[in-house]
Amino acid sequence: MTSDPSPSSRRRVLILGSTGSIGRQAVDVARAHPDRIEVVGLVAGSDEAALTRQADELGVTETGLGSEAAEQAAGTIECDVVLNAVVGAAGLRASVAALGAGRMLALANKESLVAGGDVCLAAAERGGGIIVPVDSEHSAIAQALQGAPRETVERIVLTASGGPFRNRRDLGSVTPQEALAHPTWQMGPKITIDSATLMNKGLEVIEAHYLFDLDYDDIDVVVHPQSTVHGIVEFVDGTMLMSAAPTDMHIPIQAALTHPDRVASAGERIDPDKLGSLEFEPLDRERFPAVNLAYAAGRAGGSRPAVMNAANEIAVQAFLDERIPFTAITEIVSAVIEKHPGGGATSLDEVLDADARARTIAGELIETRG
Ligand SMILES: NC(=O)c1ccc[n+]([C@@H]2O[C@H](COP(=O)([O-])OP(=O)(O)OC[C@H]3O[C@@H](n4cnc5c(N)ncnc54)[C@H](OP(=O)(O)O)[C@@H]3O)[C@@H](O)[C@H]2O)c1
Repeated sequence: MTSDPSPSSRRRVLILGSTGSIGRQAVDVARAHPDRIEVVGLVAGSDEAALTRQADELGVTETGLGSEAAEQAAGTIECDVVLNAVVGAAGLRASVAALGAGRMLALANKESLVAGGDVCLAAAERGGGIIVPVDSEHSAIAQALQGAPRETVERIVLTASGGPFRNRRDLGSVTPQEALAHPTWQMGPKITIDSATLMNKGLEVIEAHYLFDLDYDDIDVVVHPQSTVHGIVEFVDGTMLMSAAPTDMHIPIQAALTHPDRVASAGERIDPDKLGSLEFEPLDRERFPAVNLAYAAGRAGGSRPAVMNAANEIAVQAFLDERIPFTAITEIVSAVIEKHPGGGATSLDEVLDADARARTIAGELIETRG
């Protein structure tokens, strides 16, 4: 238990991607804990009207639109925590800026670590920033690990709901509307499609590699349709800690914004009497090849994960625009990696170059299919 914070221990939080699914829930968390959290800045992509409404409601004067504004705010606005809830690799520069400026980075934008994991860790080392995960699986695992020494950890297991097509055979005919109907989580469109292809789990494997400094051999994935257990840590003595929470992103967002304190919240609870049976089953890696693609890209290292991520962003948008079928998303990602296996990724420029080239190739492949 922690004592009530004094006003001086109020966290000053900058929210990047404030108008999105995570951003709006972060605003809810701030509103629920005015004694703990003060929002000092808001950045969105292009929705100026929504941003202005949020700023007026919260009395925030520091606002901006777009990646450059996010990067600048992350590096310059006086704050304690930068919540990066931008979608896609567009959030990478801001993560690097926040870590380089010594901030605590509450990271929802997993693409930052997928595309530029080494660059983010180098910025943290240089500037003294730390990363606290917002993704529910990584939040669960961090809470189960509680700083356990590396040599005591056998492996971690990320759970996956399996998405809306866990039991569907014919994936070629999936429509955007069907893919946008996730069975357990309400999220922005890009991550919802990633959850349907299971690329989201692949991205999370790479994210976990960087967050927890684990080899890919020590990171596993299991399908758990109820999404009650979010992450599992297996220790060397055979003990497994399974970390569970309601399927409500307010919980990991709050955990990150108030880290390392645990603060009461009025949200939903899991009632063990009503839990019934929890199922766990192996991932079908043939029907959902994205997870293997991500393991391979992660193991190859360098800018390969950045290439994979960029190709995926373009392919997901093309699917949402009804330009390619659902199954073409991973086909395009795979084809882009073949054409552009990537090179080094030790500088931000190298990563951004690889990202830009992969986007061009993915666009060309989509055109040719058209
Ligand atoms: N949603 C979830 O439950 C969930 C769970 C775990 C992890 N995540 C991760 O959290 C991140 C955000 O996901 P989301 O579901 O919240 O996405 P979302 O609903 O699509 O929101 C994305 C946010 O990013 C902003 N944005 C887009 N491009 C930008 C740019 N170039 N510069 C600055 N801001 C930009 C958008 O602004 P506009 O509104 O102005 O376009 C919006 O505020 C993703 O990396 C996702 O993987 C999400």
